[in-house]
Amino acid sequence: MQEAAESAAETGDLGELETLIRARYPILYAVTWEEARLEQAVIRIARKLGKNAFTWSITRGIAPAGASVQSKKILTAGTADPLSGLREVLERMDPSIYLFKDFHPYLTNPEVVRTLRDLAGHLRQSPKTLILLSPQMQLPVELEKAVTVLDLPLPSYGEIEKFLSELACDLEKKGKIRVSLNPAAKERIVKALAGLTLEEAENVLAKSIILRQQLDESALPSVISEKKQIIRKSGALEYQDFQAGLDRVGGLKALKDWFKRRQLAFTDRARDFGLPAPKGILLLGVQGCGKSLCAKAVSAAWQQPLLRLDVSKIFSSLVGSSESNIRQAVKIAESVAPAVLWVDEIDKAFAGVQSSAFSDSGTTARVFGGFITWLQEKTSPVFVIATANSVVSLPPELLRKGRFDEIFFVDLPEAEERREIFSIHLVLRSRDPRKFDLPALAAKSPGFSGAEIEQAVISALYAAFDAGRDLGTGDILAALGETVPLSKTMSEQIEEMRRWAKGRARPAF
Ligand SMILES: Nc1ncnc2c1ncn2[C@@H]1O[C@H](COP(=O)(O)OP(=O)(O)OP(=O)(O)O)[C@@H](O)[C@H]1O
Ligand SMILES: [Mg+2]
Repeated sequence: MQEAAESAAETGDLGELETLIRARYPILYAVTWEEARLEQAVIRIARKLGKNAFTWSITRGIAPAGASVQSKKILTAGTADPLSGLREVLERMDPSIYLFKDFHPYLTNPEVVRTLRDLAGHLRQSPKTLILLSPQMQLPVELEKAVTVLDLPLPSYGEIEKFLSELACDLEKKGKIRVSLNPAAKERIVKALAGLTLEEAENVLAKSIILRQQLDESALPSVISEKKQIIRKSGALEYQDFQAGLDRVGGLKALKDWFKRRQLAFTDRARDFGLPAPKGILLLGVQGCGKSLCAKAVSAAWQQPLLRLDVSKIFSSLVGSSESNIRQAVKIAESVAPAVLWVDEIDKAFAGVQSSAFSDSGTTARVFGGFITWLQEKTSPVFVIATANSVVSLPPELLRKGRFDEIFFVDLPEAEERREIFSIHLVLRSRDPRKFDLPALAAKSPGFSGAEIEQAVISALYAAFDAGRDLGTGDILAALGETVPLSKTMSEQIEEMRRWAKGRARPAF
């Protein structure tokens, strides 16, 4: 299995690395968990360019790349501390690529930083390249000019497919595990593995193979659930399961039509026709009117995975630096694309952008800047749905043209829409809406949001159950009568939002 992973990595899509080495960029900083994949790529590139390849680690110092961990003879004595490791790079003259593993902890040492700066000038004139490798991006400002950051892409579909084919071939040769993979099954497994590193993919499959003693489509459920775990652990993204489509959303006709018209926009046919893949939308509006619901429903309608981005986790220092967290999240989303990336309550998430220079030395502003640049320039079919319910704290840059395809304003439902929402929530609770006086319910609920309508249906159900009879129109009317809708207490904010939205955003119905 190890062999399969390595040879798939060999053909890996790391073209940029080779270009940078050829162009004599002196110091590269590669951000990745995939040490083995990078080391294999470095060996391959070195061979191609007629150079030597070395690794350095704090436990072993400098050793030839690809050498087994057991062999001690090949180590270069006295190079195990970071400074002597770097000096060795300075002194050796042969054309080489040096891969320094897990180097980020030493970048806080001023002597190391200074040595790296000296080294950068020297390396530019020599056939040597230094690559610092780390799962985290932590670059002191002094080094920003000397070092080129390289974000390694996750393996492509092609790489994963190659890996899976070779694994299947390996297992068949050994003959102990039954392998049955037709092209369709293979494609489904490859899709399910997208978003993982090759090492993770290998581990996930190994677990399933050991459990079942076979490799076929039955691996799929465990692959998917393992993948959810891994994506969750990786930080700020969460896989969401939501089965119901746009029929689950009442009203909001213009918005639903917009979604429906773009349903096929991600197909090859649409691309050949010249349609660009939709970028994303911003849903702005009153609380409880179905913004989050729409984000979930559209992923089901388009049959694309839904990834929820939890921006607060991006800023949590427990999972790495904020800048590399957002890059990692975007990278995962791109590797599972086509996908829907849902950024809920983006106004709260980036509320601190304006004051960021004072409050957190610019971290929020940098993360936000990185995110909107990506939004503007992305070509991958990741559809972004951002939601917000206040315009006050929304950074104005977010609203500029080119960031989103459209900004929709989601207002409180009108009478006709409320009828639809009542009907949907009655059906969800196994009641026949034809047996209810929907016009009366709609007439009794002006100013109610979808969420409040749902709550009224639920509390009416409780009342009816308590009284020992089935639910009737009267129970719901009574529940409505007992509720003061949020729109009463928040009327000023809602008015303000309406005024703002006029001419700036498209009404969602
Ligand atoms: N238009 C609607 N059609 C059907 N159900 C709705 C609608 N709007 C709201 N609901 C119900 O209310 C619940 C809460 O709505 P949702 O979370 O989508 O509101 P929101 O607009 O995201 O609010 P917030 O701004 O508070 O996040 C939904 O899960 C759904 O059951
Ligand atoms: Mg919401």
